[in-house]
Amino acid sequence: MTNPYPQKKNYVLKISMTHIHNSWKFFLKRSIYLRKRRNIWRNRFVIRQNDPTKITFNDKEYVSFSSNDYLGLSFNKDIKRSWKIGLDRYGNGSSSSGHIVGYSEEHELLERRLSLWLGYEEALLFGSGYSANQSIVFSLMKRKDSIFADKKSHASFVEAAAFSRSTFKRFVHNSADSLQTLLQKFYGDKNLIFTEGIFSMDGNFSKLKMIHEVSQKYDSYLMVDDAHGIGVFGEGGRGSCDMFQIRPEILMIGFGKAFGICGSAILCSGDMKDYLLNYSKNLIYSTMMPASQAFALLESLRQVKKSDHLRKKLRRNIEFFKEMTKRYKIPFLHELSKSGIQPIIVGNDQKCIELSEFLFKRNIWTQAIFPPTVPFGTSRIRIVITACHDVVDIEKLVLSLKEFFDQNEYEQ
Ligand SMILES: Cc1ncc(COP(=O)(O)O)c(C=O)c1O
Repeated sequence: MTNPYPQKKNYVLKISMTHIHNSWKFFLKRSIYLRKRRNIWRNRFVIRQNDPTKITFNDKEYVSFSSNDYLGLSFNKDIKRSWKIGLDRYGNGSSSSGHIVGYSEEHELLERRLSLWLGYEEALLFGSGYSANQSIVFSLMKRKDSIFADKKSHASFVEAAAFSRSTFKRFVHNSADSLQTLLQKFYGDKNLIFTEGIFSMDGNFSKLKMIHEVSQKYDSYLMVDDAHGIGVFGEGGRGSCDMFQIRPEILMIGFGKAFGICGSAILCSGDMKDYLLNYSKNLIYSTMMPASQAFALLESLRQVKKSDHLRKKLRRNIEFFKEMTKRYKIPFLHELSKSGIQPIIVGNDQKCIELSEFLFKRNIWTQAIFPPTVPFGTSRIRIVITACHDVVDIEKLVLSLKEFFDQNEYEQ
């Protein structure tokens, strides 16, 4: 059996004369060595079966707490049927960018339904959430503009903002005061404030109401990335913004989590959509998502709207996890997380590896997350509770956590 988690090893940087004389070889060797030495080497695992609660790896079955498929729609039979019908009708691929011949009536219908559902003038489909976030920054933000993002914002946005020509500042996590101070100091021609509905590594909500108020006060545009909130929170799954009753100028929703597929959409005004269609290179120079996928996403949307029972089950599972962890005094939890994302922030990289290995040996699959994905000193096990787990799965997880922390005393 191969253990997927990083092993404690003392790596040695072996460099020969050829490496020293070849900057490419030296760069690669050294970069790989640095990751391995800190035991934060990233691996991919060849997973055979990956459903919302069970995965098969190396012929063994594990209870999975790593899937973002919060409602279990990735295996929904109506969505699978739609995708098959879409394939028969439209073929495998879209063959080109949406600006050539890749945009179909299914894409158009999906955009229309999304905008009506979320109360926006327009919606615009993208191949991924990563691409949509980058597109907003790269196409809209110019040299004299300013971007303000929460410190815990997703890498897709932060990377683009850091490479953009605009002034880029990060405000203290969820602090409207910090945002206001930065706005006063670095106010640009156009100002874009970015935050997430649910933070992907901590599971807590953004203080959307307060951030929105500051944004309005300073005549800025607010962009909310609701990759983890859409489908899960708000009335009928309309997401975090619906829950907090705000309407940001730009809303990004992802289809890789509760929608159970992949891709994304930007919800915005008609003018913003027209602008993006004409200036966003991520759209113009990229192959459109297949029409069969748009067709399947239309069914996903129907399923999300009518899945109050799954949202209720998810809430019950989260509450059960929280009750159990409280009863057994499991440390390092994120008190503010009310979502399916329930991290155990052990802090130290090595402790994090030990915990993930311990769970792995008990056939529990969780994701260990290290810097730079999370800040240094906050390595964690990212546990995701879905609507598909049952109490036995959650009990098994919490009892294993208890066993681990009973055997290992860590200071919180
Ligand atoms: C908050 C957040 N935004 C954006 C993305 C990127 O979305 P996608 O997976 O569709 O590229 C992710 C991760 O998947 C995410 O967690």
